[in-house]
Amino acid sequence: MGVSCGCVERHDHAVLTVTDLTVRYGRAVHALQGVSLEVPDGAVVAVLGGNGAGKSTLLRAISGTLRLHRGTIDAGEITLQGRRIDQLDPATIVRSGVVQVPEGRQVFAQMTVADNLRAGGLAAAPERRAPARERVLDLFPVLAQRRGQRAGLLSGGEQQMLSIGRALMSDPKLLLLDEPSLGLAPRLVTRIGEIVAEINDQGTAVVLVEQNATMALRVAGHAAVLEVGRVALAGTTEQFADSDEIARLYLGGHAESEEQARVEADRAATSRRTLSRWSG
Ligand SMILES: Nc1ncnc2c1ncn2[C@@H]1O[C@H](COP(=O)(O)OP(=O)(O)O)[C@@H](O)[C@H]1O
Ligand SMILES: [Mg+2]
Repeated sequence: MGVSCGCVERHDHAVLTVTDLTVRYGRAVHALQGVSLEVPDGAVVAVLGGNGAGKSTLLRAISGTLRLHRGTIDAGEITLQGRRIDQLDPATIVRSGVVQVPEGRQVFAQMTVADNLRAGGLAAAPERRAPARERVLDLFPVLAQRRGQRAGLLSGGEQQMLSIGRALMSDPKLLLLDEPSLGLAPRLVTRIGEIVAEINDQGTAVVLVEQNATMALRVAGHAAVLEVGRVALAGTTEQFADSDEIARLYLGGHAESEEQARVEADRAATSRRTLSRWSG
């Protein structure tokens, strides 16, 4: 089977299902149109796509934080383990087991590392807080070393780790990561990839939004590419890798310039036509 165009794979055991989701901001901007996505139990699903494709909007819709950005779900539904969550408020969604690490880290800069983690743990059942904290400090020993330091004084990489650690303190079933590698040095990007794999090995499903396709597709078992609010491609990462064209376009790293990005977008359109011939 080739990489399918705009289709969803159906799994009997999905932790999260997004069906035909349409989202707008204000009156005019349709940020997502008929987007469907499944996260199989225990999977890492990569969501790729350029700036403005709708990646953050998708995560906000899942975590219920869309309203904080004046966004509205116009159509579609989102279910967590078969139960609808698209009408719930963000706090209830966190308690149901879904937590988002927003774009740009957003740690509480004036608070200490320990207090940031404590704040993340407030959503967890009291008896789950100590094990969650142990897991986080195990994953990120640097946070134990810096526990008394103000979060705003940490390096970018450390802030990203704190941001992920704070989210894990709520003991989630599903972790939503919005471009965790953004602005980090290559060594740290690799480290973030390893950490995502480790978190997943411990039993947490992950939706990994990335512009760094190389890292994301190394860690993920499934991937979807968003283009201007629609799913342009979806499949397993093996299917992505089996397609030479897709491998070159989406596994090959970043466009060096806007001109190159345009050239690559043209090539992507051509390859999609080829792919739809295969699958159609
Ligand atoms: N708060 C907002 N108000 C109005 N438009 C927004 C808002 N956030 C995002 N958008 C628009 O929605 C589209 C998708 O944005 P976004 O989800 O942030 O994309 P991505 O994360 O893939 O870069 C873009 O056209 C963007 O300009
Ligand atoms: Mg974004």
